[in-house]
Amino acid sequence: MHFPGSHIIGIDAFIREDIDRIFHTADRMRPYAHRERVTKVLDGAILGNMFFEPSTRTRISFGCAFNLLGGEVRETTGFESSAIAKGESLYDTARVLSGYSDVIVMRHPQSGSVAEFAAASRVPVINGGDGANEHPSQALLDLYTIRNELQSRGRDGIDGLRIAMIGDLRYGRTVHSLSRLLCLYRNIHVVLVSPQELRLPESLEVALREAGHQVTVTDKLEESIRKVDIVYSTRIQEERFASREEADLYRGKFRLNQAVYTQYCEPNTVIMHPLPRDSRAEANELDNDLNENPNLAIFRQADNGVLVRMALFALILDVADQVDRHARDVNWYTERRF
Ligand code: NCD
Repeated sequence: MHFPGSHIIGIDAFIREDIDRIFHTADRMRPYAHRERVTKVLDGAILGNMFFEPSTRTRISFGCAFNLLGGEVRETTGFESSAIAKGESLYDTARVLSGYSDVIVMRHPQSGSVAEFAAASRVPVINGGDGANEHPSQALLDLYTIRNELQSRGRDGIDGLRIAMIGDLRYGRTVHSLSRLLCLYRNIHVVLVSPQELRLPESLEVALREAGHQVTVTDKLEESIRKVDIVYSTRIQEERFASREEADLYRGKFRLNQAVYTQYCEPNTVIMHPLPRDSRAEANELDNDLNENPNLAIFRQADNGVLVRMALFALILDVADQVDRHARDVNWYTERRF
Protein backbone atom coordinates (compact mmCIF):
# COMPACT_ATOMS: atom_id res chain seq x y z
CA MET A 1 0.00 0.00 0.00
CA HIS A 2 1.14 3.51 -0.69
CA PHE A 3 0.19 4.95 2.71
CA PRO A 4 0.21 8.73 2.18
CA GLY A 5 -3.37 9.86 1.52
CA SER A 6 -4.82 6.33 1.58
CA HIS A 7 -8.10 5.30 3.18
CA ILE A 8 -7.98 2.35 5.59
CA ILE A 9 -11.30 0.61 5.07
CA GLY A 10 -10.53 -3.11 5.20
CA ILE A 11 -7.68 -5.55 5.68
CA ASP A 12 -7.76 -6.70 2.04
CA ALA A 13 -5.81 -3.57 1.03
CA PHE A 14 -2.70 -4.76 2.89
CA ILE A 15 0.14 -7.07 2.03
CA ARG A 16 2.42 -8.51 4.66
CA GLU A 17 5.13 -5.87 4.19
CA ASP A 18 2.55 -3.17 4.98
CA ILE A 19 1.87 -4.81 8.31
CA ASP A 20 5.63 -4.93 9.07
CA ARG A 21 5.82 -1.23 8.26
CA ILE A 22 2.87 -0.38 10.55
CA PHE A 23 4.34 -2.45 13.40
CA HIS A 24 7.79 -0.94 12.97
CA THR A 25 6.26 2.55 13.05
CA ALA A 26 4.14 1.64 16.10
CA ASP A 27 7.29 0.48 17.94
CA ARG A 28 8.81 3.91 17.37
CA MET A 29 5.77 5.62 18.94
CA ARG A 30 6.38 4.04 22.34
CA PRO A 31 8.22 6.97 24.02
CA TYR A 32 5.39 9.29 22.97
CA ALA A 33 2.58 6.98 24.03
CA HIS A 34 4.38 6.44 27.35
CA ARG A 35 4.66 10.23 27.84
CA GLU A 36 8.45 10.26 27.94
CA ARG A 37 8.64 12.53 24.90
CA VAL A 38 6.17 14.87 23.21
CA THR A 39 6.06 15.63 19.52
CA LYS A 40 4.33 18.40 17.63
CA VAL A 41 4.68 16.80 14.22
CA LEU A 42 0.93 17.19 13.52
CA ASP A 43 0.70 20.70 14.98
CA GLY A 44 -2.26 22.38 13.27
CA ALA A 45 -3.75 19.18 11.82
CA ILE A 46 -7.37 18.27 12.60
CA LEU A 47 -8.91 14.82 13.04
CA GLY A 48 -12.65 14.46 12.48
CA ASN A 49 -13.59 11.65 14.86
CA MET A 50 -17.10 10.54 13.92
CA PHE A 51 -18.69 7.82 15.99
CA PHE A 52 -22.26 6.83 15.23
CA GLU A 53 -22.16 3.77 17.51
CA PRO A 54 -21.07 3.39 21.16
CA SER A 55 -17.31 3.31 21.65
CA THR A 56 -14.87 3.81 24.51
CA ARG A 57 -11.47 2.48 23.46
CA THR A 58 -11.58 3.06 19.73
CA ARG A 59 -12.85 6.63 19.89
CA ILE A 60 -10.65 7.74 22.77
CA SER A 61 -7.51 5.98 21.58
CA PHE A 62 -7.82 7.37 18.05
CA GLY A 63 -8.26 10.82 19.62
CA CYS A 64 -5.34 10.35 22.02
CA ALA A 65 -3.14 9.03 19.22
CA PHE A 66 -3.80 12.17 17.20
CA ASN A 67 -3.24 14.44 20.22
CA LEU A 68 0.01 12.63 21.02
CA LEU A 69 1.26 13.52 17.55
CA GLY A 70 0.41 17.16 18.24
CA GLY A 71 -2.89 17.39 16.32
CA GLU A 72 -6.38 18.48 17.36
CA VAL A 73 -9.52 16.36 17.51
CA ARG A 74 -13.12 17.34 16.63
CA GLU A 75 -15.74 14.82 17.66
CA THR A 76 -19.20 13.98 16.39
CA THR A 77 -20.95 11.28 18.34
CA GLY A 78 -24.41 9.89 17.70
CA PHE A 79 -26.73 10.52 14.74
CA GLU A 80 -28.95 12.76 16.82
CA SER A 81 -26.21 15.38 17.12
CA SER A 82 -25.45 15.39 13.38
CA ALA A 83 -27.41 16.46 10.30
CA ILE A 84 -27.69 12.78 9.32
CA ALA A 85 -30.70 12.95 11.67
CA LYS A 86 -32.21 15.52 9.24
CA GLY A 87 -31.88 13.13 6.32
CA GLU A 88 -28.49 14.23 5.01
CA SER A 89 -26.76 11.57 2.92
CA LEU A 90 -23.36 10.03 3.68
CA TYR A 91 -22.16 11.57 0.42
CA ASP A 92 -23.05 15.13 1.45
CA THR A 93 -21.78 14.63 5.00
CA ALA A 94 -18.46 13.38 3.64
CA ARG A 95 -18.10 16.23 1.13
CA VAL A 96 -18.72 18.79 3.86
CA LEU A 97 -16.80 17.32 6.78
CA SER A 98 -13.75 16.49 4.71
CA GLY A 99 -13.43 20.23 4.14
CA TYR A 100 -13.01 20.70 7.89
CA SER A 101 -10.36 18.08 8.71
CA ASP A 102 -7.14 16.48 7.49
CA VAL A 103 -8.20 12.92 8.25
CA ILE A 104 -11.44 11.30 9.42
CA VAL A 105 -12.14 8.25 11.55
CA MET A 106 -15.66 6.93 11.27
CA ARG A 107 -17.72 4.25 13.01
CA HIS A 108 -21.18 3.49 11.67
CA PRO A 109 -23.73 0.68 12.29
CA GLN A 110 -24.09 -0.26 8.59
CA SER A 111 -21.72 -2.58 6.70
CA GLY A 112 -20.15 -0.75 3.79
CA SER A 113 -21.09 2.71 5.08
CA VAL A 114 -17.53 3.83 5.78
CA ALA A 115 -16.42 2.82 2.27
CA GLU A 116 -19.34 4.82 0.84
CA PHE A 117 -18.37 7.80 2.99
CA ALA A 118 -14.70 7.48 2.02
CA ALA A 119 -15.57 7.48 -1.69
CA ALA A 120 -16.98 10.99 -1.27
CA SER A 121 -14.37 12.26 1.18
CA ARG A 122 -11.61 14.62 0.12
CA VAL A 123 -9.31 13.43 2.91
CA PRO A 124 -8.23 9.96 4.09
CA VAL A 125 -10.82 7.98 6.06
CA ILE A 126 -10.10 5.22 8.57
CA ASN A 127 -12.79 2.67 9.32
CA GLY A 128 -13.45 2.58 13.07
CA GLY A 129 -15.95 -0.26 12.59
CA ASP A 130 -18.75 -0.57 10.00
CA GLY A 131 -21.55 -2.73 11.33
CA ALA A 132 -20.64 -6.39 11.48
CA ASN A 133 -18.24 -6.02 8.57
CA GLU A 134 -14.71 -4.86 9.50
CA HIS A 135 -12.68 -3.15 12.20
CA PRO A 136 -9.22 -3.00 10.63
CA SER A 137 -7.38 -0.92 13.25
CA GLN A 138 -8.53 -3.35 15.96
CA ALA A 139 -7.19 -6.33 13.99
CA LEU A 140 -3.87 -4.51 13.56
CA LEU A 141 -3.56 -3.82 17.27
CA ASP A 142 -4.63 -7.38 18.03
CA LEU A 143 -1.93 -8.82 15.81
CA TYR A 144 0.61 -6.32 17.15
CA THR A 145 -0.28 -7.53 20.65
CA ILE A 146 0.02 -11.17 19.58
CA ARG A 147 3.47 -10.47 18.13
CA ASN A 148 4.63 -8.68 21.30
CA GLU A 149 3.19 -11.25 23.70
CA LEU A 150 4.83 -14.11 21.81
CA GLN A 151 8.11 -12.20 21.64
CA SER A 152 8.12 -11.67 25.40
CA ARG A 153 7.68 -15.45 25.76
CA GLY A 154 10.72 -16.09 23.57
CA ARG A 155 8.96 -16.72 20.27
CA ASP A 156 9.63 -14.75 17.15
CA GLY A 157 7.07 -14.22 14.42
CA ILE A 158 3.41 -14.94 13.78
CA ASP A 159 3.79 -17.87 11.36
CA GLY A 160 2.87 -21.13 13.07
CA LEU A 161 0.55 -19.40 15.55
CA ARG A 162 -2.22 -21.38 17.26
CA ILE A 163 -5.26 -19.26 18.12
CA ALA A 164 -8.78 -19.96 19.42
CA MET A 165 -11.37 -17.31 18.51
CA ILE A 166 -14.37 -17.62 20.77
CA GLY A 167 -17.89 -16.22 20.95
CA ASP A 168 -19.93 -14.31 18.39
CA LEU A 169 -17.95 -15.04 15.24
CA ARG A 170 -20.90 -14.23 13.01
CA TYR A 171 -21.34 -10.57 13.95
CA GLY A 172 -17.96 -9.86 15.55
CA ARG A 173 -16.22 -7.47 13.17
CA THR A 174 -12.95 -7.70 15.09
CA VAL A 175 -12.82 -11.42 14.38
CA HIS A 176 -13.67 -10.80 10.73
CA SER A 177 -10.78 -8.39 10.28
CA LEU A 178 -8.39 -10.52 12.33
CA SER A 179 -9.24 -13.59 10.21
CA ARG A 180 -8.46 -11.64 7.05
CA LEU A 181 -5.21 -10.44 8.57
CA LEU A 182 -4.15 -13.96 9.54
CA CYS A 183 -4.52 -14.94 5.87
CA LEU A 184 -1.32 -12.95 5.21
CA TYR A 185 0.69 -15.37 7.40
CA ARG A 186 1.66 -19.03 7.15
CA ASN A 187 0.73 -22.24 8.85
CA ILE A 188 -1.75 -20.94 11.41
CA HIS A 189 -4.04 -23.22 13.38
CA VAL A 190 -7.32 -21.41 13.93
CA VAL A 191 -9.88 -22.90 16.30
CA LEU A 192 -13.30 -21.32 15.78
CA VAL A 193 -15.49 -21.66 18.86
CA SER A 194 -19.09 -20.48 18.65
CA PRO A 195 -22.68 -21.66 18.80
CA GLN A 196 -23.69 -23.14 15.44
CA GLU A 197 -25.88 -20.08 14.68
CA LEU A 198 -23.00 -17.67 15.31
CA ARG A 199 -20.34 -19.35 13.18
CA LEU A 200 -17.77 -17.34 11.27
CA PRO A 201 -19.16 -16.33 7.82
CA GLU A 202 -18.35 -19.07 5.35
CA SER A 203 -16.37 -16.80 3.05
CA LEU A 204 -13.91 -16.09 5.87
CA GLU A 205 -13.60 -19.74 6.82
CA VAL A 206 -12.86 -20.52 3.17
CA ALA A 207 -10.30 -17.70 3.02
CA LEU A 208 -8.49 -19.10 6.06
CA ARG A 209 -8.39 -22.58 4.52
CA GLU A 210 -7.26 -21.22 1.16
CA ALA A 211 -4.42 -19.44 2.93
CA GLY A 212 -3.26 -22.94 3.89
CA HIS A 213 -4.30 -22.68 7.53
CA GLN A 214 -5.68 -25.51 9.62
CA VAL A 215 -9.22 -24.61 10.70
CA THR A 216 -11.07 -26.43 13.46
CA VAL A 217 -14.73 -25.62 14.16
CA THR A 218 -16.28 -26.49 17.51
CA ASP A 219 -18.81 -25.36 20.11
CA LYS A 220 -16.82 -26.73 23.08
CA LEU A 221 -14.70 -24.23 24.96
CA GLU A 222 -12.66 -26.70 27.00
CA GLU A 223 -11.28 -28.72 24.11
CA SER A 224 -10.59 -25.61 22.03
CA ILE A 225 -8.26 -23.92 24.49
CA ARG A 226 -6.00 -26.89 25.21
CA LYS A 227 -3.29 -26.39 22.63
CA VAL A 228 -3.29 -22.75 21.60
CA ASP A 229 -0.96 -19.80 22.13
CA ILE A 230 -3.78 -17.25 22.13
CA VAL A 231 -7.32 -17.39 23.46
CA TYR A 232 -9.24 -14.55 21.80
CA SER A 233 -12.59 -14.15 23.50
CA THR A 234 -15.39 -11.92 22.20
CA ARG A 235 -18.72 -10.48 23.33
CA ILE A 236 -22.12 -11.48 21.95
CA GLN A 237 -22.84 -8.49 19.68
CA GLU A 238 -26.33 -7.90 21.07
CA GLU A 239 -26.83 -4.70 19.05
CA ARG A 240 -26.81 -6.83 15.85
CA PHE A 241 -29.62 -9.15 16.99
CA ALA A 242 -33.32 -8.59 16.34
CA SER A 243 -33.98 -8.51 20.09
CA ARG A 244 -32.20 -8.68 23.41
CA GLU A 245 -33.99 -11.97 24.09
CA GLU A 246 -32.40 -13.51 21.01
CA ALA A 247 -28.94 -12.36 22.12
CA ASP A 248 -29.66 -13.78 25.60
CA LEU A 249 -29.85 -17.26 24.06
CA TYR A 250 -26.11 -17.16 23.40
CA ARG A 251 -24.81 -15.17 26.34
CA GLY A 252 -22.62 -16.94 28.87
CA LYS A 253 -21.99 -20.03 26.74
CA PHE A 254 -18.20 -19.70 26.83
CA ARG A 255 -16.94 -18.59 30.22
CA LEU A 256 -13.24 -18.50 30.92
CA ASN A 257 -12.16 -18.19 34.53
CA GLN A 258 -8.97 -19.07 36.40
CA ALA A 259 -10.11 -22.62 37.25
CA VAL A 260 -10.92 -23.41 33.61
CA TYR A 261 -7.67 -21.78 32.51
CA THR A 262 -5.59 -23.79 34.99
CA GLN A 263 -7.30 -27.05 34.08
CA TYR A 264 -7.20 -26.78 30.30
CA CYS A 265 -4.71 -24.20 29.02
CA GLU A 266 -1.00 -24.68 28.52
CA PRO A 267 0.99 -22.49 30.89
CA ASN A 268 1.61 -19.06 29.34
CA THR A 269 -1.43 -19.15 27.04
CA VAL A 270 -2.22 -15.52 26.33
CA ILE A 271 -5.77 -14.31 26.97
CA MET A 272 -7.05 -11.53 24.71
CA HIS A 273 -10.36 -9.75 24.11
CA PRO A 274 -11.06 -6.66 22.00
CA LEU A 275 -13.16 -5.35 24.93
CA PRO A 276 -15.62 -4.46 26.27
CA ARG A 277 -15.88 -7.82 28.06
CA ASP A 278 -19.43 -8.40 29.19
CA SER A 279 -18.98 -8.76 32.95
CA ARG A 280 -22.67 -9.14 33.79
CA ALA A 281 -23.39 -12.37 35.67
CA GLU A 282 -25.36 -13.86 32.77
CA ALA A 283 -22.39 -13.43 30.39
CA ASN A 284 -19.10 -13.10 32.27
CA GLU A 285 -17.02 -14.30 29.32
CA LEU A 286 -13.71 -13.45 31.06
CA ASP A 287 -14.03 -13.68 34.83
CA ASN A 288 -12.54 -11.02 37.11
CA ASP A 289 -10.57 -13.76 38.87
CA LEU A 290 -8.25 -13.69 35.82
CA ASN A 291 -7.27 -10.08 36.56
CA GLU A 292 -4.10 -11.06 38.41
CA ASN A 293 -3.13 -13.67 35.81
CA PRO A 294 -0.01 -12.29 34.08
CA ASN A 295 -1.15 -13.90 30.83
CA LEU A 296 -4.28 -11.75 30.73
CA ALA A 297 -3.17 -9.33 28.01
CA ILE A 298 -6.43 -7.37 27.56
CA PHE A 299 -5.17 -4.10 29.01
CA ARG A 300 -1.79 -4.30 27.25
CA GLN A 301 -3.86 -4.93 24.11
CA ALA A 302 -5.96 -1.79 24.73
CA ASP A 303 -2.76 0.22 25.40
CA ASN A 304 -1.34 -0.97 22.09
CA GLY A 305 -4.30 0.63 20.32
CA VAL A 306 -2.69 4.03 20.83
CA LEU A 307 0.64 2.94 19.31
CA VAL A 308 -0.94 1.33 16.26
CA ARG A 309 -3.32 4.25 15.66
CA MET A 310 -0.44 6.73 15.97
CA ALA A 311 1.40 4.66 13.36
CA LEU A 312 -1.59 4.76 11.00
CA PHE A 313 -1.88 8.54 11.27
CA ALA A 314 1.88 9.01 10.86
CA LEU A 315 1.94 6.85 7.73
CA ILE A 316 -1.23 8.21 6.13
CA LEU A 317 -0.24 11.82 6.76
CA ASP A 318 3.33 11.00 5.75
CA VAL A 319 5.14 12.24 8.84
CA ALA A 320 6.54 8.93 10.16
CA ASP A 321 10.10 10.08 9.49
CA GLN A 322 9.57 13.54 11.00
CA VAL A 323 8.11 12.57 14.39
CA ASP A 324 11.43 12.67 16.27
CA ARG A 325 12.53 15.91 14.64
CA HIS A 326 9.59 17.74 16.25
CA ALA A 327 10.04 16.20 19.69
CA ARG A 328 11.29 17.08 23.15
CA ASP A 329 11.24 15.48 26.62
CA VAL A 330 8.13 16.05 28.71
CA ASN A 331 8.13 18.59 31.54
CA TRP A 332 5.87 16.79 33.99
CA TYR A 333 6.03 13.76 36.27
CA THR A 334 5.35 10.74 34.09
CA GLU A 335 6.15 7.60 36.02
CA ARG A 336 3.42 5.05 35.49
CA ARG A 337 2.51 1.74 37.02
CA PHE A 338 2.01 -0.85 34.31
C1 NCD B 1 -15.30 -4.04 19.45
C2 NCD B 1 -16.17 -3.42 18.39
O1 NCD B 1 -16.69 -2.31 18.56
O2 NCD B 1 -16.32 -4.08 17.37
N1 NCD B 1 -14.87 -3.12 20.41
C3 NCD B 1 -13.75 -2.38 20.17
O3 NCD B 1 -13.71 -1.60 19.24
N2 NCD B 1 -12.69 -2.61 20.95
C4 NCD B 1 -15.83 -5.28 20.05
C5 NCD B 1 -17.16 -5.24 20.73
O4 NCD B 1 -17.83 -4.21 20.81
O5 NCD B 1 -17.57 -6.30 21.24
